[in-house]
Amino acid sequence: MTQNKKLFIKTYGCQMNVYDSERMAEALGSEGYVETKTPDDADMILLNTCHIREKAAEKIYSELGRYKGFKAQNPDLKIGVAGCVAQAEGAEIMRRQPMVDLVVGPQSYHRLPALEAKVRAGEKALDTDFPEEDKFEHLKARPKAKRAPSAFLTVQEGCDKFCAFCVVPYTRGAEVSRPADRVLTEARDLVARGVREITLLGQNVNAYHGAGSGGSWTLAKLIWALNDVEGLERIRFTTSHPNDMTDELIEAHGNCPKLMPYLHLPVQSGSDKILKRMNRSHTTESYLDVVARLRAARPDILLSGDFIVGFPEETEEDFQATLDLIKAVEYGQAYSFKYSTRPGTPAAERPQLQEEVKSERLQRLQALLSEQQKNIQLSMVGREVKVLLEKPGRLEGQMVGKSQYLHAVHVTGSGGNIGDIVRARVLNSEKNSLGGACVE
Ligand code: SAH
Ligand code: SF4
Ligand code: F3S
Repeated sequence: MTQNKKLFIKTYGCQMNVYDSERMAEALGSEGYVETKTPDDADMILLNTCHIREKAAEKIYSELGRYKGFKAQNPDLKIGVAGCVAQAEGAEIMRRQPMVDLVVGPQSYHRLPALEAKVRAGEKALDTDFPEEDKFEHLKARPKAKRAPSAFLTVQEGCDKFCAFCVVPYTRGAEVSRPADRVLTEARDLVARGVREITLLGQNVNAYHGAGSGGSWTLAKLIWALNDVEGLERIRFTTSHPNDMTDELIEAHGNCPKLMPYLHLPVQSGSDKILKRMNRSHTTESYLDVVARLRAARPDILLSGDFIVGFPEETEEDFQATLDLIKAVEYGQAYSFKYSTRPGTPAAERPQLQEEVKSERLQRLQALLSEQQKNIQLSMVGREVKVLLEKPGRLEGQMVGKSQYLHAVHVTGSGGNIGDIVRARVLNSEKNSLGGACVE
């Protein structure tokens, strides 16, 4: 094993990719790699890709083009593509960009050390299987390095829902949950390394059904078990499907002390016709019912959502229904997108709306969502929040952290350290953050 080879990982897409990149860096760390922040001096460049946006693969090909000259400068340099584009494109990547040495799909990261050895020996390595084993169980880190106070923990992967616009069921495969004891062990390990807040990740995290003592565990049961982990202060989870918001999970939002009052609950559209065409399997009414029950259980819960505008067959009336739903819910945070085709998904085959129509609707939708975000932030002014300190701020004596509602808060006068949770009075609201002063 050669020591101190340099690894540059560039991560695209969702939090799950962020988590996967950390695991890959740790696994390659055991093979003698240390991370570097620039590709310039790297011995391995790994792109952890996302396939959710339009022309995602094309963008990766052009990104790869940027590294063409690098191999001339460092003949030992190896270039790899991981993530959802790797899964979708497979061997095609090596055909189009022969300088790529390694293509590895999200389900095969535990095989990375073996694949790395193969590319070091001068061969090409390709692995886009969907193996049975728990990849994270095999991706053990050697060094027990200290961690930042907030961490992701993947508990569930893949999706069986097949929304008509989405590539995830194809790139991440069928829904699989990790056994509860492994999740709990990993959580305790994270806490021992300085973590105070854990965000449980899954493409459909609330459909979690991992094996555990006494049979399969629900997400609510897992959250309650994590609530007993000493030293862990905050629990979050993302992303949830409205249909899997069970009574038990809603009740946890009301009663579980460490579960934070924030929920990302994508709805995509407020028109039942479009929801049906999207194969979302929920209606506007069932979504609003979940929201009402959540708010009854936890009145201050902050909701965030995902929206797609310009899905095939969306009329102005359908779009208005989405605006109405947004007005009814009031989101504190949201992500919104113009529909764009993904090859291989059902909606890609349907007649498409004009680009200008999509852009104009997206503008109106985002104006409404920003207004709501701003109003909710303003309503925080004067209130006391608890801030988990994550890093020093730009100004002297200032720290930045997250409130229980996931607002970024710049705090003065805390005297606290990274990882502390301090009480702060919110004094002002900026575009994407709040300012506050410590009250202790
Ligand atoms: N598992 C999550 C999110 C998956 S992808 C869920 O079920 O909600 C993240 C977001 O990207 C989606 O919520 C959707 O709003 C958006 N998205 C996915 N495919 C898209 C497409 N083809 N066009 C535009 N937006 C898309
Ligand atoms: Fe994609 Fe729908 Fe599954 Fe979410 S629930 S990952 S949008 S198919
Ligand atoms: Fe993108 Fe794959 Fe995540 S397509 S959003 S990186 S699951």
